[in-house]
Amino acid sequence: MTTPIIKQDRILIIDYGSQYSQLIARRVREAGVFCEMYPYDIDTQRIKEFNAKGVILSGGPESVHAEGSPKINEAIFDLNVPVLGICYGMQAMASRFGGKVHASDVHEFGAASIDVITSSALLDGIEDAPAKLDVWMSHGDKVIEAPTDFKVVASTPSCPIAVMANEDKQYYGMQFHPEVTHTLQGEALLARFVHQICGCTNAWTPENIIDMRVEQIREQVGDKHVMLGLSGGVDSSVVAALLHKAIGDQLTCVFVDNGLLRLHEGDQVMQIFAENMGVKVVRVDAEERFLTALAGEPEPEAKRKIIGKTFIDVFSDTARELKNDDGSGVGVDFLAQGTIYPDVIESAKSHQGKAHVIKSHHNVGGLPDDLAFELVEPLRDLFKDEVRKLGITLGLPHKMIYRHPFPGPGLGVRILGEVKKEYADILRLADAIFMQELERFDWYDKTAQAFAVFQPVKSVGVVGDARRYAWVIALRAVETVDFMTARFAHLPYELIETVSNRIMNEIAEVSRVTYDVSSKPPATIEWE
Ligand code: XMP
Repeated sequence: MTTPIIKQDRILIIDYGSQYSQLIARRVREAGVFCEMYPYDIDTQRIKEFNAKGVILSGGPESVHAEGSPKINEAIFDLNVPVLGICYGMQAMASRFGGKVHASDVHEFGAASIDVITSSALLDGIEDAPAKLDVWMSHGDKVIEAPTDFKVVASTPSCPIAVMANEDKQYYGMQFHPEVTHTLQGEALLARFVHQICGCTNAWTPENIIDMRVEQIREQVGDKHVMLGLSGGVDSSVVAALLHKAIGDQLTCVFVDNGLLRLHEGDQVMQIFAENMGVKVVRVDAEERFLTALAGEPEPEAKRKIIGKTFIDVFSDTARELKNDDGSGVGVDFLAQGTIYPDVIESAKSHQGKAHVIKSHHNVGGLPDDLAFELVEPLRDLFKDEVRKLGITLGLPHKMIYRHPFPGPGLGVRILGEVKKEYADILRLADAIFMQELERFDWYDKTAQAFAVFQPVKSVGVVGDARRYAWVIALRAVETVDFMTARFAHLPYELIETVSNRIMNEIAEVSRVTYDVSSKPPATIEWE
């Protein structure tokens, strides 16, 4: 397939391992330009074939003086396109062209204000330049002598070469991180690099991405049939909407009700997709099958395995039924998945070259061999925020696109110990009350994830004149961006009090409500 027009102007990002690398790619995409990120040891052939209009070298934890530290592949300089080195990328570039890098164990971390000394194609036209820029530093080593054909463009008292440039070659280096939001003009700087310096147009928009994807899906699928496991989460919902737009009735979605979903989840999914959008959705009621499989098992890892395996069994059975269906059903040739770009980058980092295989297993939990499908992964090169924009442009409800994440094993990891229908029913009601009040108090969007947890212990309460000996519900709400670390949300007491009162008044089987004040680490977000 030839490269679609909107991917023709493309930036190559080389990752040297900085925790901010993915942010560079997101900012470039936000500037309307397609880019991809590869580890620094990407092979020379791929660098050439990528056909970049510009290259960005990320930061990284190494020192250029350390033995075996990553070098810049010479093929990058042979491309004759602009190159921007950020932090380690700048130091590696300085070192390559004969500058001097000072090794230091002293880390400069935080906000800094840089003085712009002279004009350059990179900084001219940026608001506030050429006076000062508020930037974010995070480095130990620094360039102390620019290569001879580079000029020093900006500096700070502690970092004399904060920006350097070789305008003839269009090679630029900056010690600070333009990709983090603390660098106030960072987005403008990266946009200037990709547009003015590399000459990329502003073609990477949700509308264009949708047009391109629709065309690609039609080309891949032809007149064959695709099956998609629809969970109601953001990624699979956007895949459903996209595939429906591309191939209409050739798509069959399977929605598995495992009895561990939120209140009315199944009805909502059916309403949005089947009723409003006319998507073919097969709803499989598998509550009993899941609960039977889980009966008597209190151990969290074993519960997860049972849920994963049962899901695969149900999904496989449904696929076979669709396939045979007394000869009248559809033969499913493709399996669609909501794999997104961070998954691809992460698996590429740990398993070079095997990203595809690993992810397909991760997403569908390893389908049996006799269900050999070709994969359709239309979100494979998109970041979460791009997926959301696509969803909105495709007409999916805002509420569905911006909802909190919900784990695959569902309420199974929010009922401690053995899972029983009685517990799941109580938890569903408690959770729904919590969600309603979060919305009413306008706190849903201020928390990254919130939910109720069922604790299989009984506690004494008093209702009227009677004693109530019933279950305990914990409330969990967290603030986080990456879900790797989190702090408990500082919800207003009135909100917690309202939720607590409603749960104990409306659910007779609950006698006590607690609020979880643990941070991650050392706690996790889910309780299990
Ligand atoms: P923890 O509990 O590890 O959770 O702090 C971090 C985030 O991951 C979600 N989570 C899962 N998501 N399948 C998923 O799709 C899972 O098995 C799973 N386990 C945890 C959790 O909800 C939180 O957002």
